Amino acid sequence: MTFSAIASALPRVAVTTIDGLPFPHLASGKVREIFDLGDALLLVATDRLSAFDVILPDGIPGKGAVLTQMSNWWFAQTAGLIANHLLPDQAGEFARRGITNRDLQLRSMVVRKLKPLAIECVARGYLIGSGWSSYQKTGEVCGNRLPTGLRQADRLPEPIFTPTTKAPKGQHDEPINDAQAAAIVGAALYEKVKATSLALYRLGHDRAKQAGMILADTKFEFGTDAAGNLILIDEVLTPDSSRYWPAAEYRADCSPPSYDKQFVRDHLVALKWNQQPPAPRLPAEVIARTQEKYLAALRNLLGP
Ligand SMILES: Nc1ncnc2c1ncn2[C@@H]1O[C@H](COP(=O)(O)OP(=O)(O)OP(=O)(O)O)[C@@H](O)[C@H]1O
Ligand SMILES: [Mg+2]
Repeated sequence: MTFSAIASALPRVAVTTIDGLPFPHLASGKVREIFDLGDALLLVATDRLSAFDVILPDGIPGKGAVLTQMSNWWFAQTAGLIANHLLPDQAGEFARRGITNRDLQLRSMVVRKLKPLAIECVARGYLIGSGWSSYQKTGEVCGNRLPTGLRQADRLPEPIFTPTTKAPKGQHDEPINDAQAAAIVGAALYEKVKATSLALYRLGHDRAKQAGMILADTKFEFGTDAAGNLILIDEVLTPDSSRYWPAAEYRADCSPPSYDKQFVRDHLVALKWNQQPPAPRLPAEVIARTQEKYLAALRNLLGP
């Protein structure tokens, strides 16, 4: 689907709940609602926004559609590297299952039912965020020893893999090292997950660069099927799961502006909110500018 087709179909008001579907509801994530289609799952990305792992009372109109459509684009780009959870004919699946609402289609994926691995697979090419904090304290990021003298936002000599636990709702994911992550998923599978995550990061970084963005870091999720095959699941290389910077504004020694929720986070930090629920409402301007950011990232990748 083209960027303009997606952008012109976005709702004016944020869609933060998904009601009235005839399918059994399985689970609610911070952003997604998951329904049981029997032989498949329906993942619906709402317009909800979370910051510091708390869902904000305001959504960003159309954000869910942007996330789903961007993931679909990346699933196509990465299909040569790793199989993904999308059933091959999304339009056909929607038609067959009576999913006719246009807004719902744009924010939905019909996916294979898989067993998610119990780790979050983070790949980083730049020294920023929690990686930068850890490096300043220990010179390491999740057991990866790095050269001395690196500055905030510096590009790393090589991308690194920094997995975390998958924390239950309301808790924070904790960084773990190779040995801990291998103990959770099994050594052989872990090697594959690590190599695939790094290959996906490199591909994502190259494509994003062509689109005028730097992919600083990103988080993947993988699942396995009944035969034990490794499959890329969830969303992929979106501003919610990744840190993208405009290439033109990138420089080291600072925290560059990003396409993710940084704008909202900056607003919340300025309010000195204690990061416990309930979160404060967002001003209309913060909502509008955040929507612009998500759309800009999509336009950069898909073209106008
Ligand atoms: N193909 C799949 N099969 C099974 N589970 C999946 C599949 N794709 C994604 N999931 C799961 O669906 C959920 C997506 O929901 P969402 O992104 O809103 O959750 P979240 O807020 O990130 O929190 P959490 O991942 O802890 O539930 C994730 O738990 C993810 O692991
Ligand atoms: Mg998620």
